[in-house]
Amino acid sequence: MTESLTIRRPDDWHLHLRDGAMLEGVLPWTARHFARAIVMPNLVPPVVTGAEAAAYRERILAALPDGMTFEPLMTLYLTEDTDPEDVAAAAESGLVKAVKLYPAGATTNSASGVRDFDKVRPVLERMAEIGLPLCVHGEVTRREIDIFDREAVFIDEVLDPIRRATPGLRVVMEHITTAEAAAYAAEGDETLAATITVQHLMLDRNDMLVGGMRPHLYCLPILKRGTHRPKLVEAATGGSPRFFLGTDSAPHPTHAKEAECCAAGCFTAPVALSCLAEIFDEADALDRLEAFTSLNGPAFYGVPVNEERITLTRGAPIDIPAKIETGAGPVSVFNPGRPVHWRVT
Ligand code: DOR
Ligand code: ZN
Repeated sequence: MTESLTIRRPDDWHLHLRDGAMLEGVLPWTARHFARAIVMPNLVPPVVTGAEAAAYRERILAALPDGMTFEPLMTLYLTEDTDPEDVAAAAESGLVKAVKLYPAGATTNSASGVRDFDKVRPVLERMAEIGLPLCVHGEVTRREIDIFDREAVFIDEVLDPIRRATPGLRVVMEHITTAEAAAYAAEGDETLAATITVQHLMLDRNDMLVGGMRPHLYCLPILKRGTHRPKLVEAATGGSPRFFLGTDSAPHPTHAKEAECCAAGCFTAPVALSCLAEIFDEADALDRLEAFTSLNGPAFYGVPVNEERITLTRGAPIDIPAKIETGAGPVSVFNPGRPVHWRVT
């Protein structure tokens, strides 16, 4: 049995860092394991322009404790008023690595997102020209579509038409949760990729709902029926370059999770790599962990792989802290509810 594994330092291709006291509290938990992260722009108000992304990047770097290194890879929040030339300038300067598409109303702070996809056509065309990836929260928001079906419907109704209408557009299907999404990404060409979270690789909706509702497992897209999870594990561990890690670690203060209307998001950053090693170990695919965490993402985004290495070691189950303290209040840490034996050493 493999007891220790050394891999290139991972990157997180989908992360929520927030701002202010919360940013200060959560950033070290990512920076201790990850070299870089694609930072989500869904602040209030959202990060829409190149100038706003530059300012946010400075706030992130200022929040980084002395002695830690971390490179935030910035994104812009796509609105119906986004200026294609501002996007192009921010990309060409190297500041911005992707644009994020939130369908309006799909998730936390998505009110400024896109309602009419025709309105963002000029931006998407400019992005296709310059090769700037579009990160997509792939869920339709119509009231009549069941929450468990929203991802699969989005692929047919929105994503596939956008890709056909915009040849060459590079797309990341973010935090995929279904067999349909895994199959669509696997069949795509080199302009398509998908990220997968730790919670969707480890859990299904029964873990969240049977025997009581567990708010700390509630995220969007929501955990699905158990038949989907093995397809996601297969995608992550199968060696295809289309799939890589995006934790979607999304901190909320514990009081906002343990509430009458619970906020969506799992704070996985402190345990993400331990959990992933556990999943890959179970799938007998530890030799493919590095591709998923550290190679496929850089290849898609066209950035160099990290030269530094980290080592994971198998041993007694790790202690997962219930909460971390931040200046914005305690934040409960994701716990998969079963032993995790791998630690980053
Ligand atoms: O669970 C989620 N939380 N999904 C998202 O898409 C957004 C995120 C957040 O910002 O809290
Ligand atoms: Zn997210």
